[in-house]
Amino acid sequence: RPLVVAIDGPSGSGKSSVSKEVARRLRLAYLDTGAMYRAVTWDCLDRELGLGDSALVEASARALDLELSTSADFEYVAVRGQDVTAAIREPRISASVSAVATNLGVRDELIRRQRALIAAHGRRMVVEGRDITTVVARDAEVRLLLTASEEARMRRRGLQLGGTQTAEQLVQQVVERDARDSTVASFTQAADGVYTVDSSDLDFEETVSAVLDVVQA
Ligand code: CDP
Repeated sequence: RPLVVAIDGPSGSGKSSVSKEVARRLRLAYLDTGAMYRAVTWDCLDRELGLGDSALVEASARALDLELSTSADFEYVAVRGQDVTAAIREPRISASVSAVATNLGVRDELIRRQRALIAAHGRRMVVEGRDITTVVARDAEVRLLLTASEEARMRRRGLQLGGTQTAEQLVQQVVERDARDSTVASFTQAADGVYTVDSSDLDFEETVSAVLDVVQA
């Protein structure tokens, strides 16, 4: 039977690691929609397109030759056959991705591809992002917003980046990206019918359990 688990949340909420673990435990496929926005951004930067030319950026997204793992057990993203799994996580991509994500043509194309992937997996998938509960899979069996206090999010983000940036740089980058992102999708407050899990005071295992509780409710 179909089981789409839609998980939205801001950067540093633990969304990716928690979503992957939930997919493994429930033996569902896994889709990281953020990786798709990052891949479009990587492609535009690689081809040295101005991100301000929205028609050109949209056209690149529509034509993008993108391959993406839908397994929680291995991470793989390729653009035009080139492995960009690590490259799309670089700070230069994080810094430019919301400029691409606010392009409505890009969103239209990626949402179309995301829905096709969900259907291709027989609607048995954990899908994570910013607009999954509200747009991409509004009809999901389970819809959940994973939040965390700003303090908790910065702490996790800092650990993830391995201390290459100062705390202030980090706060500024994340706060700025959230502000830009919130113009396309509201992920600070749960929409009607969407459960909220606040992970501020939960460790990884406790957060996974809280999400599984919602799925089994
Ligand atoms: O690295 P982090 O968890 O903060 O973000 P991500 O999930 O990799 O997403 C990167 C960016 O893609 C976000 O900052 C958004 O600009 C965009 N995004 C989006 O607009 N809609 C989604 N469903 C997923 C990501």
